[in-house]
Amino acid sequence: MNSYVNMGVGAFLGTVFVLMSVSIASEGIFHSEAPEKEGFAIVAEEGTSEAGAGGGAEVEVDIKPLLLKADAAAGEAVFKKCASCHTADKGGANKVGPNLWGLVNRPIASHEGFSYSAGMKTFAEGGKVVWDYDHLSYFIEAPKKHVPGTAMGFAGVKKPDERANLIAWLREQADSPAALPDAAAAAEAAPAAGAEGAKPAEGQAAPATEVKPAEGQPAPAH
Ligand code: HEC
Repeated sequence: MNSYVNMGVGAFLGTVFVLMSVSIASEGIFHSEAPEKEGFAIVAEEGTSEAGAGGGAEVEVDIKPLLLKADAAAGEAVFKKCASCHTADKGGANKVGPNLWGLVNRPIASHEGFSYSAGMKTFAEGGKVVWDYDHLSYFIEAPKKHVPGTAMGFAGVKKPDERANLIAWLREQADSPAALPDAAAAAEAAPAAGAEGAKPAEGQAAPATEVKPAEGQPAPAH
């Protein structure tokens, strides 16, 4: 009798042991951590800053002289990076981002039927600021960094000449393309750009006041 009880207990304990082992093993095999964030972010990684080895402040490139020798046809190829989220044809639809027809000198965050982020609206300063060449270049270089809170999940076009080609092409996607920066103004703006710091100067929207005789002498920075 005793031995039957022992056998019964033994068999029972054996079964429990086997079940526990299986459950521990399967836990190890099948258990997976829940991801920290649901879904996946479209944001590509930040590129390396072109300031590079120097360490210090990032060098802002003045896009205007580059625009004068930019290749709009090459810019169309660069636009492929944008085309998943933007159309640039006349009357084109808003996709993830707004349609970009007539973008150059258009007030920031102003396209009909598109709901802009608070970050972009702040950058627009209530519609006072337009997408002139400086603002475009600044934004496209590093959208998330230069317009904090923007909904545009795109790492940026870091290479100045690529950016110039792209902007030259975007400029042509308009009823009447905006004037290219004139050579004198472009040359004059160059020395001021470093002192200006991160943000492009305000008031660039009125090019008429910017026209200076080409004297080679940089005007005092304002
Ligand atoms: C992953 C999608 C995505 C990609 C790729 C993308 N954009 Fe955007 N873009 C957006 C969104 C979303 C907004 C609206 C941003 C906001 O409201 O903060 C936007 C806004 C803009 C604006 C402001 C327009 C306005 O009406 O004020 C410009 C200019 C722009 N994008 C240019 C570009 C260019 C040029 C490229 C390619 C180099 C590009 N975008 C790539 C999603 C994208």
